[in-house]
Amino acid sequence: MKLVVTENYEESSRILADMVEQVIAEKKDAVLGLPTGSSPVGMYHYLVQDYQEGKVDFSEVHTINLDEYTGLEREHVQSFGYFMDQHLFSKVNVPAENIMLIDGTGSAAEQIDRYDRFLDDNTIDILVVGIGNNGHIGFNEPDTVFHAQTHLTELEPETIKANARFFEKESDVPRSAITMGMSAILKARKVVLIATGEAKAGAIERLFMDDTIDPMFPCSILKGCKDAVVVVDRDLYGRTKL
Ligand code: F6R
Repeated sequence: MKLVVTENYEESSRILADMVEQVIAEKKDAVLGLPTGSSPVGMYHYLVQDYQEGKVDFSEVHTINLDEYTGLEREHVQSFGYFMDQHLFSKVNVPAENIMLIDGTGSAAEQIDRYDRFLDDNTIDILVVGIGNNGHIGFNEPDTVFHAQTHLTELEPETIKANARFFEKESDVPRSAITMGMSAILKARKVVLIATGEAKAGAIERLFMDDTIDPMFPCSILKGCKDAVVVVDRDLYGRTKL
């Protein structure tokens, strides 16, 4: 697991976009695993800008998102599908049929089966992830299993509280989600984690100061990945004991 410390969030975002573009340059039909939330917004900005400048072509790329709240339609402004449309899909030339998203209002069993079939047949070339304050990746909350495939999960009170900032009130945050499991994260050829902001400092510090891989601290699975890079800015780094 490699740690990259950048000057600021802008530089972190630029580095992430470069990593994604490098993978596409080497493999036109690369499979990208993608996150939502505030952390990757800057990366999407650069991917869109570079597409508009003709520096990257998504016409053969496949994408699969990490997760989705249950109960929210794609048109709901806080659904992850809507986020992806706003920040990437409506602005670049990734074909609609190459996009794998979870339908938060569909049958959970069908969504899970569709995701697991795709993940059995394909390997993610680069998986970008954010991190929850409690160390979650995707919506893999602290749990006892690391072998999980795609599954329905109850969100931790801490996650609901953290995500309330996107909703009018905390009670509007969905209580459950469907998430890609740890087994798909472990299988990815490359995983890149971006973290920014004071609230993430504790998780990043623990990730690098503690050698154990512990399902109760989900991001620790990155230590078992083939190629994992953690990108943090100087401000966050300065708040840790690293
Ligand atoms: C979102 C996801 C989550 C977020 C995490 C951090 O698709 O999988 O794990 O990456 O909750 O969210 P932000 O970036 O909003 O702090």
